[in-house]
Amino acid sequence: MLVASNRGPVSYEVGEDGALSSKRGGGGLVSGLSAIGPDTDAVWVCAALGDGDREAVARAGGGLLPEADTGGQRVRMLDIDAATHADAYNGIANSVLWFVHHMLYQTPLEPVFDAEFRRKWAAYEAYNRAFAEALAEEAAEGAAVLIQDYHLALAPRMLRRLRPDLRIGHFSHTPWAPPEYFRLLPDDIAAELLTGILGADRAAFLTRRWADAFTACCHAVLGPGIPSGTRVGVHGLGADADFLRERAHRADVDERMVALREEIGAGRRTVVRVDRTELSKNIVRGLLAYRHLLAERPEWREKVVHVAFAYPSRQDLAVYRDYTAEVQRVADEINSAFGTPGWTPVVLHVKDDFARSLAAYRLADVALVNPIRDGMNLVAKEVPVVSDEGCVLVLSREAGAYEELSEDAVPVNPYDIVGTADALHAALGVPPEERAERTKRLAAAATALPPARWFLDQLEELRG
Ligand code: G6P
Repeated sequence: MLVASNRGPVSYEVGEDGALSSKRGGGGLVSGLSAIGPDTDAVWVCAALGDGDREAVARAGGGLLPEADTGGQRVRMLDIDAATHADAYNGIANSVLWFVHHMLYQTPLEPVFDAEFRRKWAAYEAYNRAFAEALAEEAAEGAAVLIQDYHLALAPRMLRRLRPDLRIGHFSHTPWAPPEYFRLLPDDIAAELLTGILGADRAAFLTRRWADAFTACCHAVLGPGIPSGTRVGVHGLGADADFLRERAHRADVDERMVALREEIGAGRRTVVRVDRTELSKNIVRGLLAYRHLLAERPEWREKVVHVAFAYPSRQDLAVYRDYTAEVQRVADEINSAFGTPGWTPVVLHVKDDFARSLAAYRLADVALVNPIRDGMNLVAKEVPVVSDEGCVLVLSREAGAYEELSEDAVPVNPYDIVGTADALHAALGVPPEERAERTKRLAAAATALPPARWFLDQLEELRG
């Protein structure tokens, strides 16, 4: 069995002394796929993302990385030419495909599909080809190959041509755009993306909504019927309760709780959010809603703190750097407008710290998860699992997780600042018993399909 994704389960850095150090790769995709576990003989094929990774590939002679670095997982990293990788990853995957599926364009001025776009598209094709060739080389006769995400939309078809004997699955961890938005893409590119994925035996998604959008795009762009007979499936990745509960009660998390309580101040309620600083996460509108709450309902002043963790993401892209600055600016503005000597209304942390995230999950009174659009959103599923005394979940109806959690969450339209402020107000007022009951039900729904089962289900369906 093989897995293919852009980001792998390990990343390397070269130290000042020239030594290589390894650490676990980040993001929802890696968390989910880590469930493959080191026991199987699966090979995970991924791309080298930086100089450290490239050095590690060179030292491994292009073969499997040392198992001591990967926690036992067999990993082959591809050293794709750095400029080609940058054009494919930043130029196409993150700046075009991510924007299309999350509907992030400011359409009066963008997107612009010009000659420069076509040049980057050629790099995206070359990058996908490099994966297809490596997978074709690595796979045993009849092996199952699970290809992940929008980075690798073309690889299934390319691989199918090289190795018709393989069982190929493709999984999208993002939303899928509705046809009218997907068709912003030039017609030939739209068709290439769809037929690329249709090269797989199965195309799978996190929710029914995204699967249906994919099917609708196929009908709109390629004509009625799914031409290749590819099966479309849904696997709603859940939270890993055992791992989270154990991890959330280690000493480092307890220490972080003490520090956080200090920052918040005794007796205050908390509205917690934890995200990568990702355009789709809607952190700025979350802050604006909180500001509206303080402005319109002065009874909450001094009584509540918005704890916002916004961890760095995709800082190679100017639009992400600008967004990060805007998050900081709005947080500062709220603190100077409303703060008092004993009360900081927004506690913003930008340095990634998993133990501190878990500490915030445990003490949150309200969790704010308000993405513009999100494939699933695991934070919405993790908070109820870890919460000490119950937490009210304010959840965007555009998050994939909404499909499973809507009954016990407080729903929001992510663009509606006033509506979000009202939802925060309502959530802060939910009585303790109701809060605990809701959290129990949310936790059950959130853990219905734990990562290991999620992964095995896909494999079984593919081998069917
Ligand atoms: C999130 C998305 C995944 C995506 C990943 C890539 O986790 O849910 O769909 O693969 O981001 O993030 P990266 O940091 O590698 O660009």
